[in-house]
Amino acid sequence: MAVEACRHTGSQVCPRCSWTRPGEAALLVLRGRTARTAFPVALVVGTVLSLVNQGSTILAGTATASTWIRVAVNYTVPFIVASVGYLAGRRTAADATAWPGYLARYHDARPGITELILGQATDRQAEQPYSWLLEPLPGRHAVVLDLACGSAPTRELLPDARWLGVDFSAGELALAVAAGRGPVVRGRAEQLPLGDHSVGAVCAAMCLPVLTPLDAALAEMKRVLRPGGTLVALVPSRMRFGRGLLGWWRVMRSLGIRAQPWPNPGARDGLPRILRAHGFIVDTSERRVFRREIGDAHAAALLIDGLYLPDIAPDRVEAARAALASWARPGRRLPFPLRRVVAHLPLTS
Ligand SMILES: C[S@@+](CC[C@H](N)C(=O)[O-])C[C@H]1O[C@@H](n2cnc3c(N)ncnc32)[C@H](O)[C@@H]1O
Repeated sequence: MAVEACRHTGSQVCPRCSWTRPGEAALLVLRGRTARTAFPVALVVGTVLSLVNQGSTILAGTATASTWIRVAVNYTVPFIVASVGYLAGRRTAADATAWPGYLARYHDARPGITELILGQATDRQAEQPYSWLLEPLPGRHAVVLDLACGSAPTRELLPDARWLGVDFSAGELALAVAAGRGPVVRGRAEQLPLGDHSVGAVCAAMCLPVLTPLDAALAEMKRVLRPGGTLVALVPSRMRFGRGLLGWWRVMRSLGIRAQPWPNPGARDGLPRILRAHGFIVDTSERRVFRREIGDAHAAALLIDGLYLPDIAPDRVEAARAALASWARPGRRLPFPLRRVVAHLPLTS
């Protein structure tokens, strides 16, 4: 069964409602996490069963202890069944927590890969994703933190800003420095090496669906942003019917998956809701489709290499590469639907 994205975090892993070991599942039941789902079911089913089976005995005033035990069972069994149903949807594979290690290895081996792919995508007006992302950033005096900056593609687009990039991949940061982009600091999104209220804006390009735990990363963003500070985030958006969809369909079919396995699938089109739940005020949430040419087998191979595929067998990855290469030709463009969310912190907490 596919793991649902959690309501609280948009992530598959949530300390409040996901579990891996049976003991953790039992704790969730004891803490009442399943009650919201299971209680209404138990109330309806238990009441109907009790009315049908024990109603006449109770109304006749001849109910004994055993009658009341049966009534209790009528409520308890549906409660347990509904709780099990809820827990089945919240079970997280043990390796879902292995994302940080996978990401660090992936980006150290392929520094600059996101920029290589997205930096050449354009929309109908020939605008690129990174410049679209940065458009709403206010004033130039405040420090802009590029969270999970990778190879720092935003640096050159904000030449006058007091810009700082943070990422945990040494490979990505080395590439940024080699390109003269900085300053950059190696650090984790969930433990930022910055003081409270020290930045005026955070820019988060293509990282929120993969930062784990997302809750902690959002809490850190709030901590380092000054009151009223701005967040601009760029995340993948859902694919809709349109030109170039066939290319993606071939890729996904060869990989044997319906969607890419990000740990925080809710932090895409559902990002505004998650940000509001964390105390941000959402100003805008816009979707725009960018397209990138997949003109030959080389571009097809780069695109497949740019996907996070932690659990996909190498032969499937190879099949996806071949499928996209056979679709590729000069002028053929693959769609990249993206969502830009602009939010800010209240002036007072
Ligand atoms: C898809 S890339 C985006 C990079 C860059 N923002 C861009 O758009 O080109 C995601 C980045 O997140 C970084 N990253 C992932 N988890 C992180 C974490 N917990 N702390 C810091 N960086 C992280 C990776 O190293 C990688 O550079």
